[in-house]
Amino acid sequence: MTIPGSLIQRLAAAQRVTVLTGSGVSAESGVPTFRDAQTGLWAKYKPEELATPTAFRRNPRLVWEWYAWRRKIVAEAKPNPAHFALVELARIAPKFHLITQNVDGLHQRAGSEKVIELHGNITRTKCFDEDTIISKWSDTGDVLPKCPHCGGLLRPDVVWFEEPLPESEISLAQQASGSCDVFLSIGTSTVVYPAAALPFLALKSGAIVVEINPQPTPLTEKAQFVLSGAAGAVLPELLASLESSISSRK
Ligand code: OAD
Repeated sequence: MTIPGSLIQRLAAAQRVTVLTGSGVSAESGVPTFRDAQTGLWAKYKPEELATPTAFRRNPRLVWEWYAWRRKIVAEAKPNPAHFALVELARIAPKFHLITQNVDGLHQRAGSEKVIELHGNITRTKCFDEDTIISKWSDTGDVLPKCPHCGGLLRPDVVWFEEPLPESEISLAQQASGSCDVFLSIGTSTVVYPAAALPFLALKSGAIVVEINPQPTPLTEKAQFVLSGAAGAVLPELLASLESSISSRK
């Protein structure tokens, strides 16, 4: 894919770069997306049976086991070239924010710092009743792990349907999206709000918006640049073009 020179110029000149990622950025690491036909989690499982507080109250074992399965996939996955390219981009951009809807922690494992996690992190666990993070627990055994303080059930520290996003994370994300020069929306279907509003907020505030996704989304027609392809291929190319443009100016 040829990366447009005008995009590279904009990126090279940008003071503030904000990135929003979705599950597509981890697809090449073997972590399933949600809405891709055939392979997406929501093509096989029903969110209302697995990813709501009501579902957990109804059948905590089913929910716990589904998340244990997903935690295993994440533990075995490795960051891919898209995650690593974003670590490099953070070094180049004077001000950089990485916002993710992903709960897999792969950005951090690649080396990204200060990741704004809108939907929590599947590797963390919290008490269902008290909402406090519990760091010591075990997936093994027939009995579901319990909170050492109150004896209540433990749940993954992820945002479920019917639940609000963490206040500090969404407000940081809105600030970073509404005050950047270039905004990249990578590997997200742009349908789950409030995260899906962030690229539109960036557009409204005058940023150049770039979409990287092999499929069109509700953002595609509005974005100034659309790089149609897999993040693990497109991002390293984008980075290589940016680096060579910067070094040729020195
Ligand atoms: P989706 O499954 O909705 O969308 C994944 C997007 O990634 C699609 O637009 C794909 O075309 C794109 N994609 C697939 N492979 C790709 C690749 N190799 N490179 C780049 N893009 C690729 O996932 P999200 O947008 O992340 O929320 O979903 C948003 C939220 O919906 C999730 O955080 C989750 C889910 O319900 C909660 O659990 C709260």
